[in-house]
Amino acid sequence: MNGGRASNADEITGLLIAVLFAGQHTSSITTSWTGYHMIADKDKSFRAALEEQRAVVAKHGDAVDFDALGELDVLHRNITEALRMHPPLILLLRLVKHPFTVTTSTGKTYTIPKASALGGGGGEERGGAARSVLGVSLGATGR
Ligand code: HEM
Repeated sequence: MNGGRASNADEITGLLIAVLFAGQHTSSITTSWTGYHMIADKDKSFRAALEEQRAVVAKHGDAVDFDALGELDVLHRNITEALRMHPPLILLLRLVKHPFTVTTSTGKTYTIPKASALGGGGGEERGGAARSVLGVSLGATGR
């Protein structure tokens, strides 16, 4: 811990809760969507991932370690695609420390003032096109 102090029980409890909450749902949601899409596309995605897995197991035998898992490129691409289509974290919040401008796809420019609260999310599938959304709450931070 900073300053050489040992963490106390409250801090350790807080860290464990943060890590459990942060890790559990994100991982299980991503795993579920990855499996769902691979099964839905079983003739291509699932078959390719299965062949890849067999090749990696044939190469590494029982020694399937982190490096061996890193060779599962097809699986990796299925996971990143599931993350793109169904991001587990739908809203990220940021406090604006310096004003900046944003220009939209239609050419409108907005200046976001300092101390605004920004909420952003993305990846929502609508008719095949992933959209992003950005919301600004002015003054919500007591500016
Ligand atoms: C598919 C899996 C995951 C996704 C999509 C994901 C996504 C994210 C995102 C977007 C952030 C940044 C949030 C922000 O800046 O507002 C974040 C932060 C964090 N994640 Fe994950 N995460 C995943 C898995 C995990 C796992 C497995 C753990 C822990 C075991 C974890 C622990 C954390 C922690 C502790 C933070 C806060 C980091 C910081 O503020 O310094 N995440 N994660």
